[in-house]
Amino acid sequence: MTTPTATLPSGDELPLVGFGTWDIGGETLREALRAALDAGYTHVDTAEGYMNEDEIGEVIADYDREELFLTSKVLPKNLAYESVIQSCEASLERLGTDYLDLYLIHWPNPAISLRETLRAMAHLREEGLVRNVGVSNFSAYQLSCAHHVSDVPIAVNQIEFHPWLQRPDLVEYCHETDTVVEAAAPLARTEIFDDEVVRELADEYGKTPAQIVLRWAVERDVVVLPKSSSPEHVRENLSLFDWELDAADRRRLDERDRDAPVYDTRARDWTGDVYGISE
Ligand SMILES: NC(=O)c1ccc[n+]([C@@H]2O[C@H](COP(=O)([O-])OP(=O)(O)OC[C@H]3O[C@@H](n4cnc5c(N)ncnc54)[C@H](OP(=O)(O)O)[C@@H]3O)[C@@H](O)[C@H]2O)c1
Repeated sequence: MTTPTATLPSGDELPLVGFGTWDIGGETLREALRAALDAGYTHVDTAEGYMNEDEIGEVIADYDREELFLTSKVLPKNLAYESVIQSCEASLERLGTDYLDLYLIHWPNPAISLRETLRAMAHLREEGLVRNVGVSNFSAYQLSCAHHVSDVPIAVNQIEFHPWLQRPDLVEYCHETDTVVEAAAPLARTEIFDDEVVRELADEYGKTPAQIVLRWAVERDVVVLPKSSSPEHVRENLSLFDWELDAADRRRLDERDRDAPVYDTRARDWTGDVYGISE
């Protein structure tokens, strides 16, 4: 079965399920990614900060590039104009491709001009190195600023989203501005499997807790990016489109919000190697 898609402002189709690749590498990643692509995934989410683009490049070399939707991200320390260009070129080199379907600002960096970063993104799009531009971990305030100063549409905001962190105002603002929401950590890194309603619904529907949570998100018009190192889980996470939740059950999950992030916590460490801001 072909995975349904969301249409981006460019007209490109973004598959509603993508294979997440944070914190996975080497042979584990190669094996899980092959299982994903063989099972019918056509959407892969990576980032320069994940340090696994080489492995992803090796695997996708055996598949038809035009069939794939490939996303990467530029680190917040690399958001100056020339650094964005260099980061993108390096990602393309490692991935063994000459374009990205989507290039995201991984995290906002208030120390570097957003206008400058988005000028570089627009240049990459003009040059055909990236087909769509977006952001990640942006608040509604930051996203509205990005829309205001960008010459190219901000197609996506990738944010932490799951039943315990539903961010209604941010998601509504994204949808109002035709910014597709992608759920990072859609399984709350497995914490959500402890939720009693998720467990009850899994029993009732004869599905796994992961499938209940992912199906709920796509029914909320959110693209999901589950990560798994297990070929069995990888396949399970794509089996979401031949069944649906009743409206009343969807509402039960809507009521589970507890404003509880697993990674997008309020305080940031600006000194880290990967996500920090260099001086
Ligand atoms: N933009 C950002 O800043 C940002 C931040 C976080 C995440 N992301 C993106 O979102 C992706 C997903 O987030 P995440 O990796 O943090 O966490 P996640 O997808 O919420 O959870 C991953 C965990 O769930 C388990 N899992 C997956 N499918 C399962 C299933 N069907 N049954 C049981 N367990 C299952 C995995 O274990 P197994 O390996 O055992 O299956 C793994 O421990 C990332 O890989 C990345 O692409 C982006």
